[in-house]
Amino acid sequence: MPAKKTKRVRESQVEMTELVLPNDTNQLGNLLGGRLMHWMDICAAMAAGKHSGRVCVTASVDEINFLGPVKLGQVIHIRASVNRAFHTSMEVGVNVVVEDIHTGYSRHVNTGYLTFVALDETGRGVQVPEIVPVSSEEKRRFEGAFTRRNARLKRRKLIEANEEARLRTESKKKKKVG
Ligand SMILES: CC(C)(COP(=O)(O)OP(=O)(O)OC[C@H]1O[C@@H](n2cnc3c(N)ncnc32)[C@H](O)[C@@H]1OP(=O)(O)O)[C@@H](O)C(=O)NCCC(=O)NCCS
Repeated sequence: MPAKKTKRVRESQVEMTELVLPNDTNQLGNLLGGRLMHWMDICAAMAAGKHSGRVCVTASVDEINFLGPVKLGQVIHIRASVNRAFHTSMEVGVNVVVEDIHTGYSRHVNTGYLTFVALDETGRGVQVPEIVPVSSEEKRRFEGAFTRRNARLKRRKLIEANEEARLRTESKKKKKVG
């Protein structure tokens, strides 16, 4: 069966729930930021994998802000949605909510944007289906993803230029020593 050229957001949405256990926390009993980022990455990778039907690698993660502590024993709900697909890459939006299952209290903890690239068996990027946004919320995220992608690619160019400059300086230094 030929691969679909377009897909809806809900076809690849993934929800993941985790109970915060002692091994996930710091000395204050607060969830470690790195643990939360790991869960966000896994949840987002599953959504990208479902959308593309491929193994996907994380190309970049936008700034993540932790809006408040999450305590030992609380429950984390993570929802990942493919906001927009480009050629081989996809922006996945991740929404994190903390819940106290004893009191019913819940609060938004953070939102993250991760970019994944779909790869074939040889490790080369492959074209992914387009996203067809349906709801007004999906349309808003779809539009936002375009602006965020441009900002990311500009940043990547800057990083590459800095790296090239660093390598040039290093090689000049080596020549002087030699
Ligand atoms: C991600 C990776 C496949 C990109 O390949 P590349 O040859 O460097 O990049 P390309 O210029 O061919 O771009 C491929 C796609 O990635 C996108 N991309 C690359 N870097 C990006 C970044 N920093 N942010 C957002 N998108 C990015 C490009 O826009 C392009 O998307 P498109 O095909 O939809 O237009 C490659 O850099 C890689 O394998 N990185 C390591 C991934 C990994 O191991 N992640 C886990 C972290 S340890």
